[in-house]
Amino acid sequence: MTIDPKLNVNFYLVGFMGTGKSSIGRQLAKAMQMEFIDSDSEIVKIAEKPIKYIFTQEGESEFRKMEREFVVSGHPETGCIIACGGGLVMQEGMIDILKSKGVLICLFASASTILKRTSSNLNRPLLNVESPEEKIAELLAERESTYLQAGTGIYTDNRSIAEIVEHALRIYRKQAAMFP
Ligand code: S3P
Repeated sequence: MTIDPKLNVNFYLVGFMGTGKSSIGRQLAKAMQMEFIDSDSEIVKIAEKPIKYIFTQEGESEFRKMEREFVVSGHPETGCIIACGGGLVMQEGMIDILKSKGVLICLFASASTILKRTSSNLNRPLLNVESPEEKIAELLAERESTYLQAGTGIYTDNRSIAEIVEHALRIYRKQAAMFP
């Protein structure tokens, strides 16, 4: 699918941990010849320490402030595909800010898929607990209604990356063309 080169509105990918924001984002950036940015990586660069140490040494609230700064003034206004950390949209007013900056989609996956996709990576402090399964269920219950308001949803279970990328491109083409 070709993308109109005039459409360089930012494209924000949100959703729970393990829903594929970074993998899909990277493929989208290739397909759209736009820059890929991951909010977590940008924060790690600025803090000069891994996320788990930001959480343990400075606290989750400091990390959330850094996420907010990243959204408000820490990334280019156009031309980017941005994978947002899973909790970023939970902050008050964040969905509206993101919608004012670009096209927003939310990736979804079942709890069991999320568990599978996140279990090999210990870099997510919120899931570094005795029962990641219970924590995922708890956080999903807490966050689901917010994710449902965060742009068009794409369900990722049992779908190939290529299929999801095509779906995301269709949404982007429609919505970027109407972007104010
Ligand atoms: C978090 C998700 C993580 C990262 C941090 C907190 C969350 O990003 O920002 O560990 O609160 O859901 P990913 O969604 O990229 O794993």
